[in-house]
Amino acid sequence: MPGQQLIMDFPVTATSHLLPDYLARGGYQTLRRALTELKPEDVTKEVTAAGVLGHGGAAFPVGRKWAVVKLDDGQPHYLCANADEGEPGTFKDRWILEHAPHLLLESMLITCYALQVRNCFVYIRGEFDQPYRRLQAAVEEAYGAGYFGENVLGSGFACDIVVYRGAGSYVCGEASALITSIEGKKGYPRNRPPRLTVRGLYQRPTVINNVETLSNVAIIMRMGAEAFRKVGTAKSPGTQLVSISGHVNKPGVYEVEYGYPLEKFIYEDCGGVLGGKGLKCIIPGGISTKVMTAKDIEGVNYDHKAMEAAGSQVGSGGMVVIAEGTCMVRLLHVMLRFYHHESCGQCTPCREGMGWMHRIIERIVKGDGRPGDIDALVRISNANDGTTICGMGDAAGYATVGIIAKYRDEFEYYIANKRSKFDGRLEVAEAAGEPAHA
Ligand SMILES: Cc1cc2nc3c(=O)[nH]c(=O)nc-3n(C[C@H](O)[C@H](O)[C@H](O)COP(=O)(O)O)c2cc1C
Repeated sequence: MPGQQLIMDFPVTATSHLLPDYLARGGYQTLRRALTELKPEDVTKEVTAAGVLGHGGAAFPVGRKWAVVKLDDGQPHYLCANADEGEPGTFKDRWILEHAPHLLLESMLITCYALQVRNCFVYIRGEFDQPYRRLQAAVEEAYGAGYFGENVLGSGFACDIVVYRGAGSYVCGEASALITSIEGKKGYPRNRPPRLTVRGLYQRPTVINNVETLSNVAIIMRMGAEAFRKVGTAKSPGTQLVSISGHVNKPGVYEVEYGYPLEKFIYEDCGGVLGGKGLKCIIPGGISTKVMTAKDIEGVNYDHKAMEAAGSQVGSGGMVVIAEGTCMVRLLHVMLRFYHHESCGQCTPCREGMGWMHRIIERIVKGDGRPGDIDALVRISNANDGTTICGMGDAAGYATVGIIAKYRDEFEYYIANKRSKFDGRLEVAEAAGEPAHA
């Protein structure tokens, strides 16, 4: 997009997922240089200096995570790329897997060299069919060209990769559940400590990074940390792949420089709201992030600090645009049905809490809501906060509290009148080709 600097800047063509195309873009030269000219710790130093943050949702600094792995501890180390991408509204990793799989693979190879990893994994969402086929084909091309195997590019460094397909569980995107799933067990998250970088896959030090996070590694090593830091803001260097959907004229995946004006992105670059409607709100970074009203986004720049100051988060970069006329009660209904269905059932507050919340919103939507229901939703959300092993219980609560705080009147109206405030005004959903009563 005009007016910003990009780092990935990866034009998609019909062949951009194939090795010859990637090589023509200078692909795998950075790996070759790292293996021949750099020590593993030099790579970590450069990535740390770049200040790149995790793109999976929590924005944890990559260098700090990698630093925990001791290169001389005599243990096998593992790397897992998190390609589960189960957060509703998020489909930016899918874009990398489909169009730039070699960027991920080259980045993973450089990361494996930095962390002295012999065996690495990509844990890919079960529903991702085309991305899986593209990635697996790229793995085979990379083996054929000598980038994986016993003696990578004749350097003496050995590295193998396994692409592991999930089975459609949202919780398996959580890092500890993900490794438990790779081990062939039920994908339950587990308590920390010990951290996964101390005891992870097969009880060994394991780094888990999101697909987009890892894809930054080859870019950082190619351009250098100093140049990387010139893009974005001081606290959020680089860019974010934003997947934008919902009531928006130009949905898709966009690379956005951190610090870019959010309104300009939505109204100009993405063409604004469908059908010329007003913007009601956005879900900025996957449904686990708090909604921001049209007023909340005024003057806000798209970076971690600014989004937090405005009451939400960058999250996983999965932005959903919601037009005026959309019923927030029904929206929360869809969200709570998802959370209830996806709770792994291990922690009581999440297992029972999600069920209670789902049943409450279900009866509101059916016209059987009770006056105390809104406060009950808030109470259960707050009781979940910090009481579960993984962040899912908290996230569902934040999303719920966020919607109720801003649209309580819609819930009150629904309960008092046994119908949505917006019934009979569903043009937006219809214009978007969605069923009126989804
Ligand atoms: C319920 C739940 C689901 C998650 N799903 C994903 C996911 O699909 N992809 C992802 O990268 N991170 C996901 N995460 C975050 C991971 O636990 C982890 O923080 C992330 O993969 C680390 O990578 P990063 O530091 O590069 O962001 C999820 C977390 C929770 C609590």
